[in-house]
Amino acid sequence: MADDHNVPQTEMQGSDPQLRNSRTHDNLKVAYMSEAAASNRLDSFADMAEIEGHAEVATLLRDLAEMERLHAQGHLDFLRRVGDPLTDGPIGDTRRNMEASAAGHLEQSENQYPAMVRTAQAEGFTEISDWFRTLAKAKAAQAARIQEYLGELKD
Ligand SMILES: [Fe+2]
Repeated sequence: MADDHNVPQTEMQGSDPQLRNSRTHDNLKVAYMSEAAASNRLDSFADMAEIEGHAEVATLLRDLAEMERLHAQGHLDFLRRVGDPLTDGPIGDTRRNMEASAAGHLEQSENQYPAMVRTAQAEGFTEISDWFRTLAKAKAAQAARIQEYLGELKD
């Protein structure tokens, strides 16, 4: 990956008001999500290839997954000038990153998954509804874990 857009550690949220709320900001968020999802998906496909005995294909898929992960990271380097792609909260240093992570998990636990539970129930997908409910609980536990560390984090 080219180094020409690497952002110094001191550059954080709020440092680029021109980028904030621009269409390019939206595009960076969409691009971040799609690269992150692609990376995760390719890793899962690699797992499946391994199970099927396609070791070389699995290696190729893992290489591609790593590239997608780096593409996502490149987007995040720009995004930290304006905020977290998931919560829009400030990110950049570990305290802010942990706070954004806790906020993201709480949002998933309290809003996103409960709404999905209700929809899946209404549509008769009991197994998927149970799965979403399990995730809502797991997200609350993860948020609590992050907050516990945040309490002890030294600046
Ligand atoms: Fe990519």
